[in-house]
Amino acid sequence: EKGGYEHFMAKEIMEQPKAFRDTIFPRIQQGRVVLDDLQIGREELEGLDKLYIIACGSSYHVGVAAKYTLERLLRKPVEVTLASEFRYCEPIVTERTMALVISQSGETIDTLAAMREAKRLGARVLSIVNVVGSTIARESDDVLYTWAGPEIAVATTKAYSTQLALIYLIGLYFADLLGTISREEYGRIVDELLLIPTKLEQILENRKDIQYFASIYFNHPSVFFIGRNIDYAVGLEGSLKLKEISYIHSEAYAAGELKHGTISLIEPGTLVVALAGYSQLFEKTMSNVVEVKSRGADVLGLTVASKAEDMAKTTDHTIVIPDTHPMLLPSLEVVPMQLFAYYVALQRGCDIDKPRNLAKSVTVE
Ligand code: F6R
Repeated sequence: EKGGYEHFMAKEIMEQPKAFRDTIFPRIQQGRVVLDDLQIGREELEGLDKLYIIACGSSYHVGVAAKYTLERLLRKPVEVTLASEFRYCEPIVTERTMALVISQSGETIDTLAAMREAKRLGARVLSIVNVVGSTIARESDDVLYTWAGPEIAVATTKAYSTQLALIYLIGLYFADLLGTISREEYGRIVDELLLIPTKLEQILENRKDIQYFASIYFNHPSVFFIGRNIDYAVGLEGSLKLKEISYIHSEAYAAGELKHGTISLIEPGTLVVALAGYSQLFEKTMSNVVEVKSRGADVLGLTVASKAEDMAKTTDHTIVIPDTHPMLLPSLEVVPMQLFAYYVALQRGCDIDKPRNLAKSVTVE
């Protein structure tokens, strides 16, 4: 049942190229995104004044990445809120709001309750769900399924990846309807999207490198994930993966925010995982890497092939991923983060598929 792997998590990490393909390929025809299951039309879309993303945990982290992506593509404000906060913050939601609800299980009680509240306030609900026929899927106005297949490990991997994949499709589809994307840019992104599964396979083939880095760093007591923009969004997920399965304390920080407090925690022996795949901000993030290095941190960097040599001048070790369209970077970056957490937890002898105190589907508030 684990397909020859020691853990479901390893199996599910390895299934990501297929899950990504299954989610994306049937919805791209002749170079165009086709979302037949979506009922929303151009006029309604134009009338929207806001997208409100609602989710918990890793699904929320997809939402954080989605905010960067969707605001850029649609030029409409996107808010991202934790479902457990949404109901109690007097959310500004009207008939002109679209609620984008993200959930693997489709049963997370906080997310479900927030979705019901958004509906009550008049929002149109579009959900991204993995489990077919789940409550969130049934109660949404529109649902797009992530065809990831059953996810057994408590720590999500392939659901996260396919949720992100759907964000790209939604972004392209809506941007096309709204006329906020040029033909050339649309074509470039679609072409790159179709290459992601192959690039994921390349990353997975090189997993021994990540295992080696894990063997160096598995005993570090404290880890900081830093990055800017979408690199920061992936840092949030990398940090959650590590702490939930390896029980190492970690935090994700927007790289530019370090000097506003957290840098006081950097000392010799602290591990900093520096994500700098987003080329536009590479130099900026690297200046923060220099700051933490000079305070004694060990730095494991992650960047794209075209920047690898540059990065390696400053970092102790560097994870290299293939170049892609900047918008799609989180899809490639997250996989080494999942592998790193997995191999660190393996070295530490943790119960990887069932970490302590956690449940796969959280149906209590
Ligand atoms: C982390 C993880 C959780 C879930 C969260 C939401 O690895 O799996 O943080 O992402 O509980 O669950 P869903 O997506 O089922 O609503």
